[in-house]
Amino acid sequence: MIPAIQAAWATLEDHGRRLEGRHLRDLFANDPDRFQSLSVAQDGLLIDASKEKLDQAAIEALIDLALATNVEAKRDALFAGDAFNSTEGRAALHMALRAPDKNWSAHNQPVSADIKETLSRVLAFADQVRNRDDIDDVVSIGIGGSDLGPAMATLALSPYADGPNVHFVSNVDGADVADTLATLNPERSLIIVQSKTFTTVETMTNAATAKAWLAKTGRPVSDRLAAVSTNVSAAQDFGIDAENVFGFWDWVGGRYSIWSAIGLPVAIAIGPDHFRAFLAGAAVMDDHFQTAGTRQNLPILMGLISIWRRNILGCSSVCVAPYDQRLRRFPAYLQQLTMESNGKRVTADGQPAHHATCPVVWGEPGTNAQHSFFQLLHQGTDIIPVDFLIAAQPTNADEGHHHILLANALAQSQALAFGLTEQEARAQMAGAGVSSEDIDHLAAHRTFPGDRPSTTLLYKQLDPETLGRLIALYEHKTFVEAAVWGINPFDQWGVELGKALATKLLPVLAEGSGESLDASTAGLLAHRKHLLNR
Ligand code: F6P
Repeated sequence: MIPAIQAAWATLEDHGRRLEGRHLRDLFANDPDRFQSLSVAQDGLLIDASKEKLDQAAIEALIDLALATNVEAKRDALFAGDAFNSTEGRAALHMALRAPDKNWSAHNQPVSADIKETLSRVLAFADQVRNRDDIDDVVSIGIGGSDLGPAMATLALSPYADGPNVHFVSNVDGADVADTLATLNPERSLIIVQSKTFTTVETMTNAATAKAWLAKTGRPVSDRLAAVSTNVSAAQDFGIDAENVFGFWDWVGGRYSIWSAIGLPVAIAIGPDHFRAFLAGAAVMDDHFQTAGTRQNLPILMGLISIWRRNILGCSSVCVAPYDQRLRRFPAYLQQLTMESNGKRVTADGQPAHHATCPVVWGEPGTNAQHSFFQLLHQGTDIIPVDFLIAAQPTNADEGHHHILLANALAQSQALAFGLTEQEARAQMAGAGVSSEDIDHLAAHRTFPGDRPSTTLLYKQLDPETLGRLIALYEHKTFVEAAVWGINPFDQWGVELGKALATKLLPVLAEGSGESLDASTAGLLAHRKHLLNR
């Protein structure tokens, strides 16, 4: 590690020690302007970090770390289309897809004209599908980045959906495709095969099953089959007409591909205008990330807060709790975005990571989550920071419900931050007439330590523009973390070994023969055989 970076980390650790014994109650009591100084608003999106366990001086130290690790210079190289993904020699220029009117280059080659042309084709096709009176249902078949983004966004924007019903199939477990197709009519369904490589075994298997299902009608399937891929020739070889195949480019990572033609199912559901608003929302966040000063820059601040949580507070997991039911797939989407990007143990130059990298990201929507794992967040032995996402107003939902929802979200972040001391717990029980014997018995159980960090993201309403902005915010936040840790967030070699081993095991399952196996795998297969023969 170069000395300036080492020094910035050392200073940050000093701030960590300085704040160690300071409860969030004290931090709020001693600074009446804490909300103003630790919350940032950008065009209707507010991030309140005042319930994080840090203060302005710690933020300044984090900003020094960002400076030392060249976060802004790395950002500029990313937007310039440099081969930031060093292990694959590729740019990561998904931002170009949301503002194609600008002049973008990947690896010094202009790309804007291609993007615009493909976007027009995609939106024209979406429109055509929406206007077809012989199509009721669309089934998107893909996995990982070719599924999670479109599935999450289609659900999030369901109030805007006025096209055919859009379904998603991802798992190679035959139950997924079977259960989905069971409810549909092959005469009146369009299948879209979504795969960057067009080689992913899950997607190819599901696509073949769905194509056979379409063919059962006895008429040609070409008017009910489309594909999105960088491997256009493979899609055509699969039997999809050229005019129904939509391409994208190797500089679009799978988990960043919702902005490309992979967004087609979303465009079919909500229509071209809303899809353009979704892209435009993300572009607003791109501009903000590129131009806002560090102290006002939402992705930089969120990325740095995440560094603080992980490396100074030592938190190994983060909970995302959208108090917005239609964002219920958002935690799953973020799992791929953050953990496939930053779940790395070596830096971009192949050296062991100098600090712990990506925490485990998980979550569920509130208020449901309150009735399951929030117990652990409040009183468990681990400190797990929470991101709360809340809308100022509901979309197509009752105002009265929304007040209850909001009250609960705010109450949870209050309880996490401020807790309930033993003295307060005792006083509450005494006030409720609990006997002194029972108070002694219950006091420890009814005490909440508090001092547990959370960030609240507050936006006006979950519309296409806002969703685009939120996703781009988390994308850039993930990039900032990677820049500080010095890792490459755009490759995913960690998924390869399992794929190769599964390929080797397939003949063992299909034909009962194969190379020698480890004792556990052999034992499991033998027991499976035993179960089948029972
Ligand atoms: O699981 C690894 C991965 O390569 C993801 O990054 C990607 O989103 C997913 O598989 C699907 O790949 P494809 O779009 O090529 O089918």
